[in-house]
Amino acid sequence: MKFSDNRLTSVFPYFQLQLGALYPREEIRKQAKMAIEHLFGYDSIFIAAHPDTRLTESEMLQVVYLMKELKTGMPIQYVIGKAHFMDLELKVNEHTLIPRPETEELVSWIVNDFITGSSPVILDIGTGSGCIALALKKLIPDANVSGCDISSNALSVASQNADTHDLEIQFIEDDILNPVLIKTVDPVDILVSNPPYVTNAESSALHTNVREFEPHQALFVPSDDGLLFYRHIISFAKEKLNPGGRLYLEINEKFGKEIIKLLEKEGFSEVELRKDLSKKDRMIRARYL
Ligand SMILES: C[S@@+](CC[C@H](N)C(=O)[O-])C[C@H]1O[C@@H](n2cnc3c(N)ncnc32)[C@H](O)[C@@H]1O
Repeated sequence: MKFSDNRLTSVFPYFQLQLGALYPREEIRKQAKMAIEHLFGYDSIFIAAHPDTRLTESEMLQVVYLMKELKTGMPIQYVIGKAHFMDLELKVNEHTLIPRPETEELVSWIVNDFITGSSPVILDIGTGSGCIALALKKLIPDANVSGCDISSNALSVASQNADTHDLEIQFIEDDILNPVLIKTVDPVDILVSNPPYVTNAESSALHTNVREFEPHQALFVPSDDGLLFYRHIISFAKEKLNPGGRLYLEINEKFGKEIIKLLEKEGFSEVELRKDLSKKDRMIRARYL
């Protein structure tokens, strides 16, 4: 299929026609905007103000090439190599999860709890692209922030992102299921984690573009125990949190009650469960006294 004409706005119907079988309408529109901004630098305001802007033959070809990859089901963030998280543009690739809007809500919770004038020590477990660690350092510049991940490839992306945004973050390669290096870090005031939380049984419910393209190490719990990472993170938090320190977790909506029970059994207090914008149980905050 070719474009109906060479106007910039023809990219939208072209995207709808090509990707209609893969994504809902609104998602396709979002992807078309991201593609236009990535390829030509035109943002939504420009598109609305200059709908008759013409594309050259070679510009239209660039859209067609990009579409070839999108049609394989590859998420647009991997095709263009970047994603937005809070106010940050981050590099992402096949080794890093694409940051999600619900994770932005978790970061906002932490930032809203932040007491002005304090300099919290923060550790992000399973940092991936570094999105949580970077956003926290940007919004709480006096914080001392570290990020840990088992994947050296993900850490390499996280550290490039930190350099790009000139944010000082310490990255540590370690396995939270069998921690060695992070056991030696100084005590922390805030421990945050968005660990892998999809169980194998839930795999078939994932959209194919997630299951086939996002790193399985970032998505799946490597056992049938959906609480595996939470047990280890909670036990690590008990060792590492300063008195009164807080643990923030992104969770699988199915395990909210069980994680609350676990936290209370392990001596955490002020345990609070929150829903995300889609009204799903998505995050938990708890204090360790
Ligand atoms: C759900 S992703 C979260 C990535 C990022 N924090 C975000 O919110 O987009 C989980 C991350 O945990 C990492 N991970 C998986 N198993 C791990 C382990 N045993 N120890 C430490 N990190 C692990 C994965 O590599 C992945 O980057």
